[in-house]
Amino acid sequence: MFSLQTKKASMKKTLIGTLLAIILGLVQSSPSCLPGDRALGRCISATEEKASCIDNALGYCDDLAYSKTIFPNLLDHRTRGEIEFSSEYILLSVIDNLLQGECNPDLRIVGCSVLAPRCEKNKVVKPCRKVCESLKKSCQPAFDAIDMAWPYFLDCDRFFVGEEEGCHDPLEKLRVNIDVVSEEVAPQMPNTFIHFNHHSYTQMISVLKKTAARCSHISKTYSIGRSFEGKELLVIEFSTNPGQHELLKPEFRYIGNMHGNEVLGRELLIYLAQYLCSEYLLGNARIQAIINTTRIHLLPSMNPDGYDLAAEEGAGYNGWTSGRLNAQNIDLNRNFPDLTSEFHKIIKMRSARLDHMPIPESYWDSKIAPETKAVMKWMRAIPFVISGSLHGGDLVVSYPYDFSKHPLEEKMFSPTPDEKVFQLLAKTYVASHPLMSSKATERCGGNFVSKGGIINGAEWYSFSGGMSDFSYLHTNCFELTLELGCDKFPTEDELYSAWQDNKESLLSLIEMVHRGIKGIVKDEYGNPIKKARISVKGIRHDITTAENGDYWRLLIPGVHIVSAEAFGYSKVTKKITLPAKMTKPGRVDFVLKRVDINNRKFDRLVPEDIYDRFDPLDRFDPHSHNNNGEQGEGGELTAEREKPWWWSYFSMLGQNRPVWLLKNN
Ligand SMILES: *[C@@H]1O[C@H](CO)[C@@H](O)[C@H](O)[C@H]1NC(C)=O
Ligand SMILES: [Zn+2]
Repeated sequence: MFSLQTKKASMKKTLIGTLLAIILGLVQSSPSCLPGDRALGRCISATEEKASCIDNALGYCDDLAYSKTIFPNLLDHRTRGEIEFSSEYILLSVIDNLLQGECNPDLRIVGCSVLAPRCEKNKVVKPCRKVCESLKKSCQPAFDAIDMAWPYFLDCDRFFVGEEEGCHDPLEKLRVNIDVVSEEVAPQMPNTFIHFNHHSYTQMISVLKKTAARCSHISKTYSIGRSFEGKELLVIEFSTNPGQHELLKPEFRYIGNMHGNEVLGRELLIYLAQYLCSEYLLGNARIQAIINTTRIHLLPSMNPDGYDLAAEEGAGYNGWTSGRLNAQNIDLNRNFPDLTSEFHKIIKMRSARLDHMPIPESYWDSKIAPETKAVMKWMRAIPFVISGSLHGGDLVVSYPYDFSKHPLEEKMFSPTPDEKVFQLLAKTYVASHPLMSSKATERCGGNFVSKGGIINGAEWYSFSGGMSDFSYLHTNCFELTLELGCDKFPTEDELYSAWQDNKESLLSLIEMVHRGIKGIVKDEYGNPIKKARISVKGIRHDITTAENGDYWRLLIPGVHIVSAEAFGYSKVTKKITLPAKMTKPGRVDFVLKRVDINNRKFDRLVPEDIYDRFDPLDRFDPHSHNNNGEQGEGGELTAEREKPWWWSYFSMLGQNRPVWLLKNN
């Protein structure tokens, strides 16, 4: 793994050098014929009269099964120089990097068979259509994964011919090995095989899409936006009705790789997705019960740009910080609005609302990563109940608040009003994790044995702008920080045991969404009331109902006094008892009666929806590609922003950039 990564990194350097050399060459000795000249009858060269076989001298096509080629090639390029300056050739030189190993070397070689076609007896021998078709079939998903159109010069009908026309197989040199491999491995390979290795961006996207396709009745992928460099932030979800919120069905999310160099969580979520799919298909009753009753969302990588940087250094070797930040050098877990200091400030005011707190306007003046905005938008769009944010570098589960109640105290126990629920959730993860729950004191630095493997974030070390505090104070969702181990970038041989250690914990935390109570709030006529408030006596943190009046309130076992209220309705209170051994949530519905607003004082109820105020997040398009974060809205950069991240690879080509690689263009 290490040597492979190093080689990749050095290859990239060579590649950039080569590109530069090509561009410099272009400046110094640009070909005398410009595209279009020929059509106008200008610039007829000697080669046109008597074409004959010549030696193929293209650097990126030096390993073909034949040595002779001819000009013009199948794209009507007339000289070696013309080919080398073409965007088609540049694409072949970078495609391995872009697809990160998928479809290589076949794709390059088949492309070469068009750019440097085989020549025999001074005539072109075209490549076989069958080869092109099977290549397209296996490589199309990799192109889809990076949002790239299939290159026009690999059009199987245009540039390839059938056997009856005397084609040749450009991949014949590779065939011998491939046949042996596919015969031995293919039949025994079980459908459900999970590869416990690291996944590049392209490989991750491809695994997630293939998994969703295999389990299409219970799974779906969707993007919540793009990273700074334009990579999709892809989520895979599992639910019996994927793509939709269902009445009373709780929603759960896992977020991995927020710090780009903390990669174990990313891999675990890729494995978890495959595991959920296979086990559901195999009839595993527990997995079926989970998916039948829960909607689960997995975002394996919140920081794919940072990951790429960390992966260049490679496993086992990674520096403590390289790749932690996003491409703008922003630490995503310090980039969320700080609602915690506001909470600590107003907690003494009896009537202050301490939940669903609005984002302070000053926040929008700071530098905000597109990854942060995309996640905030996602948090608001779905009524999540529990979340786990997967990190690395230590072995502990921490829970809010992360920001100390005293700004100058860097290690100070700073609990939320839901301290007991958070403890219960954190202990659930630890209980099933053999290393987290072990009594061994030798860990990564921190020693959490005396606290049972869990810790309040601010008591560990205080920081502001974290995702978990924001999640709790702005939405209904309770988020834990899962520190999965000392090694931020474990070597490949450690991944399988890490999966074994975390699998049960990951599943049991999901099952916790069924603790506490849930129900529907309606008016007297049976109409659901959205954004009604569910309050519990003794816990100063209300939960609000979702679009169809449904809510979930996590609670520990015991007796609770629960109320529902909404603006313009009377308040209804119920006393409930939750048994110590809960397997499913208690169902508590409320019917609220309309009251005359003028006769009552609604101290804590704010009529207008807090999110309905002016809020820049509403206008933020998480899918636009922000190539230049410092620029304002609009302007001439707008068109450029829509381009995928790999577009920058071709920036040197200026006007001749391969627009045919852009989809819908
Ligand atoms: C889950 O739902 C499917 C489809 O309705 C059903 O066939 C299966 O028996 C259910 N399994 C469990 C454990 O609830
Ligand atoms: Zn981290």
